[in-house]
Amino acid sequence: MPLVTSKELLQDAQRNHYAVGAFNVENMEMVMAVLAAAEETNSPVIMQTTPSTVRYAGLDFYYANIKTAAKRASVPVVCHLDHGNSFEIAMQALRAGYTSIMIDGSKLSLAGNIALTKSVTDACHCAGVPVEGELGKVGGKEDDLENSDENPYTDPDEAREFVEKTQVDLLAVGIGTAHGVYKGVPKVNLEVLEKIRAVVDIPLVLHGTSGVPDEQVVECIKRGICKVNYATDLRIALTNGLKKHMSENPDNFDPKKYGVQGMSEVKKYVVDRMLMLKNQK
Ligand code: 13P
Repeated sequence: MPLVTSKELLQDAQRNHYAVGAFNVENMEMVMAVLAAAEETNSPVIMQTTPSTVRYAGLDFYYANIKTAAKRASVPVVCHLDHGNSFEIAMQALRAGYTSIMIDGSKLSLAGNIALTKSVTDACHCAGVPVEGELGKVGGKEDDLENSDENPYTDPDEAREFVEKTQVDLLAVGIGTAHGVYKGVPKVNLEVLEKIRAVVDIPLVLHGTSGVPDEQVVECIKRGICKVNYATDLRIALTNGLKKHMSENPDNFDPKKYGVQGMSEVKKYVVDRMLMLKNQK
């Protein structure tokens, strides 16, 4: 089927109290593995790329891969720009055919974030493409974006103002998660999430979910999280598969052989997350 937008998927998730997994894909094997997991679990899926991934192979290359996945799929697939960091890359993704776009102005002042995000929603909405904005800080390091230790939480009053003024369709919130590998066990702040939910009625997005225990994710879904992002754990799964294959077959030089093992590890991980996310239905 053709690619769909994140708005149609996430509004259904919001109405029916479940969440859709958003998985960062960095090569063809990751796209194929995420597709296989979505098919096996009969789950809608968001495949997304960050600016540094886009620099690696180009928007057109990832778009073609994800669009092909959608064409083969019997489940809805979204092609999303994750953490777009400029108006320019957002417009390039729009032109390339992405069906959902994030603009991340969370490092700017509130006024700067509102201005940047609104410029992107104004343009994307003309083309019928929904936009994800971010307010508050997701800690850790996401590609080129490194956040400091300042208060990470989204302020609920600012969230209401941000959504009203920018007309974003989805809002990524800071509730204590971080990108990358956690040092200890993360603890999401459900109280902050409840306060945001009370004043903002669009679907909310959880970033930095690799390493967050499923039980905490489930509590977040009950409080309005509809899109859940995973990147680091997919990288780890793919690389573990390749390493395992090469340690058992040190003379192999056929990329398809270690690719198959890498895909199988990614698929296993994604199947488990998808079952957890949709079983909240
Ligand atoms: P992780 O590093 O926890 O996988 O974060 C994923 C994410 O939020 C992508 O935007």
